[in-house]
Amino acid sequence: MVVYRSSTTAPVNIAVVKYWGKRDPKLNLPTNSSLSVTLSQDDLRTLTTASASEAYTEDVLLLNGAPSDLTGARTQACLRELRTRRAALEDKNPSLPKLAHLKLLLVSENNFPTAAGLASSAAGFAAFVRAIADLYELPASPTELSLIARQGSGSACRSLFGGYVAWRAGDKADGLDSQAVEVAPASHWPQMRALILVVSAAKKGVSSTSGMQQTVATSGLFQQRIATVVPANMDLMEQSIADRDFAKFAEVTMRDSNSFHATCADTYPPIFYMNDVSRAAIRAVETINQAAGKTVAAYTFDAGPNAVIYYLEENSEAVLGTFYPLLQSVDGWKQSTNFKSTVQLDETISS
Ligand code: ADP
Ligand code: DP6
Ligand code: CO
Repeated sequence: MVVYRSSTTAPVNIAVVKYWGKRDPKLNLPTNSSLSVTLSQDDLRTLTTASASEAYTEDVLLLNGAPSDLTGARTQACLRELRTRRAALEDKNPSLPKLAHLKLLLVSENNFPTAAGLASSAAGFAAFVRAIADLYELPASPTELSLIARQGSGSACRSLFGGYVAWRAGDKADGLDSQAVEVAPASHWPQMRALILVVSAAKKGVSSTSGMQQTVATSGLFQQRIATVVPANMDLMEQSIADRDFAKFAEVTMRDSNSFHATCADTYPPIFYMNDVSRAAIRAVETINQAAGKTVAAYTFDAGPNAVIYYLEENSEAVLGTFYPLLQSVDGWKQSTNFKSTVQLDETISS
């Protein structure tokens, strides 16, 4: 029996202005715009292989070796959209193999902790959508794939692009203007580096999807975040990237992470993603910046305890040389697998 197969990888992106909140949970439309840096796939990546065959009797996803749910409404929306496009292509070109009606086997592996606040859903859904689009030979642009991936996981729309990427919230009900756009290529600021400190590889207690819905429903502080804090941070962040102004980039990154985690604490009942080791990493960044006499490092935390530290290559010594000694004394810190990453170059993403 013939098996049609295609593999792809997708990168992680770590937001410096965070997406947190859905205005439309069905279409996965956000309450606010966000901005992220796409990290190189040399260190963290999802590898997904999609295959289709008459031999398959149901759609199956194997995630890190274990069967994983494909029946969720958002995953189904991605599958439906991809199959509809393939069916249209087959209608136009009758010589193409009929794949749209075949069941799919998706085998995916993250080479970094899953559901631990390191954007596995972003790399995961970006790879999921692109692997199937490649299998179906869809003539879809990164923007079109991004719009589909967004429906799987919001942050995934940014992982179809390299470099510095904004997700514009948009205001249309159909979500067609809720898009990711590259605000600058990696080559614009190639000195940017990210240190990823794996504080815990365990699956988070509250998923991002569920956490943000609780925040939207119960936090008063959140209303202020989306009305004034995020719009100001988006402007400042885009300016700091255009100017390659690290001090400004760092301050907005740290303030936005703090603001996001404050809305989690203001959720009722409160959600705590950071732990004592996370807070020790924040103190370590402050110590490093004080010792340097200027801002050379910026921390940010997604919905999980793991820290991402942005810094410039020229300050590697000051940042990396100081970090581990500072954390060594912290209770609960064991130096596990940590990652050091550069920014993803765009060429490798759309290929
Ligand atoms: P994270 O902080 O890692 O993004 P989320 O709570 O947002 O955590 O999402 C985790 C979920 O994303 C997983 O439980 C799984 O459903 C989905 N996911 C993660 N990796 C993949 C993948 N490679 N392929 C498909 N889905 C994935
Ligand atoms: C804190 O994109 O994982 O990482 O759309 O429900 O799948 P869903 O949520 P997800 O949320 C990401 C939240 C964040 C911030 C960010 O990546 O912008
Ligand atoms: Co996620």
